[in-house]
Amino acid sequence: MTASTEAEDLGQVPEPGSAGSADGLSSATPIQAPLGTKDVLWPESARWEALIALFRSIVTRAGFGLLVSPAFEDVRLFRRGIGDENEVVGKEMYEFADRSGRRLALRPEGTASVVRAYVQHRPPTPWKAWYATQAFRYERPQAGRYRQHHQLGVEAVGVADPEMDLEVIELAHQLYRSVGLSRVTLRLNTMGCSLCRPAFIEALLAYLSSRSGQLCGAHADTFAANPLRVLDCKKDECRAVTSEAPRLAGLLCDECSAHFASVRDGLDALGIEYLLDERLVRGFDYYTRTTFEFQAESLTSAQSAIGGGGRYDGLVEAIGGPPTPAVGFGVGIERLLLACDAEGCFEVPGPAPQVFVVDLTGGKLARDIARELRREGLRVSRSYENRSMRSQLRQADRSGATLAVIVGPEEAAGSSATLRELRQPSHQPSRQPSRQESVSRSELADRVLELLGNATTDVLDVTAGEGMP
Ligand code: HAM
Repeated sequence: MTASTEAEDLGQVPEPGSAGSADGLSSATPIQAPLGTKDVLWPESARWEALIALFRSIVTRAGFGLLVSPAFEDVRLFRRGIGDENEVVGKEMYEFADRSGRRLALRPEGTASVVRAYVQHRPPTPWKAWYATQAFRYERPQAGRYRQHHQLGVEAVGVADPEMDLEVIELAHQLYRSVGLSRVTLRLNTMGCSLCRPAFIEALLAYLSSRSGQLCGAHADTFAANPLRVLDCKKDECRAVTSEAPRLAGLLCDECSAHFASVRDGLDALGIEYLLDERLVRGFDYYTRTTFEFQAESLTSAQSAIGGGGRYDGLVEAIGGPPTPAVGFGVGIERLLLACDAEGCFEVPGPAPQVFVVDLTGGKLARDIARELRREGLRVSRSYENRSMRSQLRQADRSGATLAVIVGPEEAAGSSATLRELRQPSHQPSRQPSRQESVSRSELADRVLELLGNATTDVLDVTAGEGMP
C-alpha cells in the first residue's frame, strides 16, 4: 500500500512529501491528526474512561499503585533496556534531540520507564506499579496498529516467586473477563534465563545456519542477529524450517523448569486455560522465564494480540540497578476495544446529561439551578444565549437528557419550576415518558433525584490515567 492510499484509508492527510507540495499540504488543507494517530471523541471516550476505571479498580485491589512518568526518556534507556538490535528500538522509535541537544525518545512501551523510575527512586519492594500510557512506534498504520497507541499495564518489581507471575496473569485475565470478552486465548511460554538460554540460542543458530537457504526472504540474511524471531515468523518457509528446530523446553536449567512448572500448576489451579506455545517470542529482548500473550480470536492475526507480558529479571540491572526480578504486562486499549466491538460487549453509554435546564428569563436561573443540581451529583446541562423555548427544548432533547427543568417568567415569579420527562429514566426503561409537573424551587432537587431513581454520578468512579484524552 502506498503512503497516500494508506493515509486515505485512515481518513488522514498523507505524510509530508508524499503528494503535491513539499510538505504534502496546500495552505487550504485543514491540518489533521498525524498519520497513525486518532482522536477519541465523546461518546467513544466514555468507554475509555470506563475501561481505565475498571482496570484501576481491578489492580488497586491487588495492591498496585499508579505510576505517572514522562512520555519521553533519555534514548539510552530503551537502547540498553530493550536492546539496540530490537526492531522497535532500531526501526520504530521516535527519537529526537531537544533544543539543548539531549537525545530523547518518545516511549515505545511502558516497562522500561517503570524500571527506570524504580532504579532512580528505589522504593521498597515488592514495588507494584500500574499505568495508563501512550506508546509511540513508527509502524505501518492499519486497523488496530497505530503510531500512538495506549496501554494499561502493571509491573511488579522485586519478586522472583512464580506466585507473582500468576497474580499478574490473573489480573489481565480478569480484565478481559470483566469487559465481557469470552473468545480470548492465553498463550504461554518460557524464555529461560541467562544460564540456559545461551545454549539454546547456540543450538538454534547452528540449526538455522544449516538451513538458511530455506528461510523466508526477510530472515535468510538476518536470522543471525536475532535467531529467536525466526521462531515466530508467520511465513510458510520459516514455519517449515522451525517445525524441526531445537526447543528450549529440553534445555531449561533446573530453576527455570521448576519456575515454569509452578506457573503452569498455578494456572491449572486457578482454572485459567492456556496454550503452550514454544514459538511465542515476545518482541522485546528483556524477557526471561515466563512470557505470555492474550489473543482475541475475533480479530485477524495482525491485530489479535490484545495484551502480553512476562518476566524480565535482568532489566533492572541492565539499566544500572541491582539484580532485581520483575514481571508485568501491557494491554492495548485500542485493540481491546476492537475485540469488544467484534464480540459485541462492553458497550458504555456516553455521559449524556441527566437534566437539561431551559431558562426563558435570561440565563441566571439556569446557572443557579444547574449549580444546585450538580452539587447533588447529577450531570446537568443548560442552554446559553437566551434562545427561544422551542430551540432550548430541541437542544434539551438532542442532549439525551432524561429530564428538562423549565423556568419561565411565571415560574420565576412563583419560585417554582416545571419538570418535564423527555425520555424514560434508566431505572424504569419500560415506562413511557409522560410526566410534566410543577415543583417548588425548594423541592426541586429532591424531586429530580426521586424521578431519576437517585442515580447520581460518582466522580470517584472515573479515574483518568496519565496523558489520557
Ligand atoms: P507489547 O506486546 O509490545 O508489550 O505491547 C502490549 C500491547 O500493546 C499489545 O499486546 C497490543 O495490544 C498493544 N500494541 C502494541 N503495539 C501496538 C500498536 N502499534 N497499535 C496498537 N496497539 C498496539 C509491551 O509493550 C510490554 N511493555 C508489555 C510488558 C509489560 N511486558 C512486561 N511488562
